[in-house]
Amino acid sequence: MNKLVIVTGASRGLGLAICRQLLQQGYTVLALARTLSSDLNALTEQYDSGLTFVSVDLSDLDNIQPLCSELIKQHGRPYALINNAAVGY
Ligand SMILES: NC(=O)c1ccc[n+]([C@@H]2O[C@H](COP(=O)([O-])OP(=O)(O)OC[C@H]3O[C@@H](n4cnc5c(N)ncnc54)[C@H](OP(=O)(O)O)[C@@H]3O)[C@@H](O)[C@H]2O)c1
Repeated sequence: MNKLVIVTGASRGLGLAICRQLLQQGYTVLALARTLSSDLNALTEQYDSGLTFVSVDLSDLDNIQPLCSELIKQHGRPYALINNAAVGY
């Protein structure tokens, strides 16, 4: 399986756990957050080309359209988007 999934809020918490599960199941993951945490960095090293970190501030709406265009250009259309980024509890 080589399906591409975009996960926002991937640097910690639920997003990080979702990335880990997807990678274990063979998905290719684009992991979006503002910062590359040490835990997410460890996953990128473990899964190499299976996981790509993209640094973006999703609260800046001007970023969204150019980011989508660039990601599709570089990686093709995703199989799924898990739009998890927000302030947690
Ligand atoms: N934890 C719960 O019990 C719970 C319950 C119900 C619903 N939820 C929802 O589940 C989601 C995740 O919760 P969580 O507890 O895992 O949250 P968390 O630990 O605070 O993680 C939030 C994630 O979102 C990213 N993020 C925040 N603002 C961002 C921005 N402006 N641009 C890009 N990325 C941003 C953070 O990375 P950076 O800081 O590096 O950008 C981080 O990776 C949230 O939508 C939350 O509302 C959580």
